[in-house]
Amino acid sequence: MANRIMLNQTSYHGTGAIQEIATEAKARGFKKAFVCSDPDLIKFEVTTKVTEVLEKAGLEYAVYSDIKANPTIQNVQHGVEEFKKSEADYIVAIGGGSSMDTAKAIGIIIANPEFEDVRSLEGVAPTTQPCVPIIAVPTTAGTAAEVTINYVITDVERKRKFVCVDPHDMPIIAVVDPDMMSSMPKGLTASTGMDALTHAIEGYTTKGAWEMTDMFHLKAIEIISRSLRGAVANEKDGREGMALGQYIAGMGFSNVGLGIAHSMAHTLGAVYDTPHGVACAMMLPIVMEYNAECTGEKYKEIAKAMGVKGVDDMSVEEYRKAAVDAVRQLSVDVGIPVKLDALKEEDLQFLAESAHADACAPGNPKDASIEDLKDLFRKLM
Ligand SMILES: NC(=O)c1ccc[n+]([C@@H]2O[C@H](COP(=O)([O-])OP(=O)(O)OC[C@H]3O[C@@H](n4cnc5c(N)ncnc54)[C@H](O)[C@@H]3O)[C@@H](O)[C@H]2O)c1
Ligand SMILES: [Fe+2]
Repeated sequence: MANRIMLNQTSYHGTGAIQEIATEAKARGFKKAFVCSDPDLIKFEVTTKVTEVLEKAGLEYAVYSDIKANPTIQNVQHGVEEFKKSEADYIVAIGGGSSMDTAKAIGIIIANPEFEDVRSLEGVAPTTQPCVPIIAVPTTAGTAAEVTINYVITDVERKRKFVCVDPHDMPIIAVVDPDMMSSMPKGLTASTGMDALTHAIEGYTTKGAWEMTDMFHLKAIEIISRSLRGAVANEKDGREGMALGQYIAGMGFSNVGLGIAHSMAHTLGAVYDTPHGVACAMMLPIVMEYNAECTGEKYKEIAKAMGVKGVDDMSVEEYRKAAVDAVRQLSVDVGIPVKLDALKEEDLQFLAESAHADACAPGNPKDASIEDLKDLFRKLM
């Protein structure tokens, strides 16, 4: 089977990039924007940075902000109703993965109303129409949802997060402006940045990885590893590096998939509402150790990309350990916890079954059984 690469039609990168939103909206003849953003971003006036650009250009918009972190089916269905009332003809998604994912689901259902239950979109959804045009503006440097064909929605009733994979949801334009990320507090910068590193490492080692996606992932590992500490210190270079690194990781993993660090993180998000980046960061080194035997020489390249010295003189065991150690060190340096207090022994069966059924699990380089997954979760206790 041929390898497929899907990316945005257009993307803008660098400080001040949000100014291009007005130019693009006008050039494409868009009339009214449906702005999807979450309540905190509105409160902290991050959303305003973009709505001011729209206002200055005389472009109309309506704001939708009933979006929580780990967004729910209800957030999507409410958004669909509000979109219909708004008479908008495109979406501007401003936020982290939660706002961008909600926007994608709304845009998909507006164009494909037979999926209004949302649950039926899980996995590879057989939609027939491209979603409402989306201009995506990330405010975290992590998910890369602005350049992925995925979105993740929480089913509160069934305590599950489910992944939807659908080329029809790809934002037509991504606007990756580090200035939109500068207001992130330290903890959020750290956890979302570790999500990006998890995308890069899982994408690099996933079963479907190939030369072109390896190129994206290795570059992303290198940029993220050298930029995350600086971004957490709110330094300009660090912010710029993370904005770019997380996007490059998205160019890769969206096209090949991830692995069980993500399956397990989705489950922790659904059951304990653990922030996605924190869950990924905690799982990543544990899963890397578990997967090591099925990764050939890939950890050698990961260790090198992370700046480990003397890798060429190391044995297989040494460079595999060096790669995992470098990930652990970065995680500790940016303040990620190693234990999850909420985790309980009696939840393990449900957690493991849920992670086993997650859409990211088949991509893992090593096939994990439910018992394996329980053991891996246990390492967080
Ligand atoms: N679509 C994809 O490909 C993909 C990939 C990975 C994860 N996800 C999903 O994305 C979601 C997580 O997204 P996220 O990690 O970007 O966080 P998020 O969107 O859930 O936001 C977390 C919190 O950070 C705040 N925040 C965001 N940007 C800020 C800023 N610039 N300044 C101050 N506060 C800010 C938000 O208001 C929110 O309270 C999860 O549901 C996850 O499953 C999607
Ligand atoms: Fe992620």
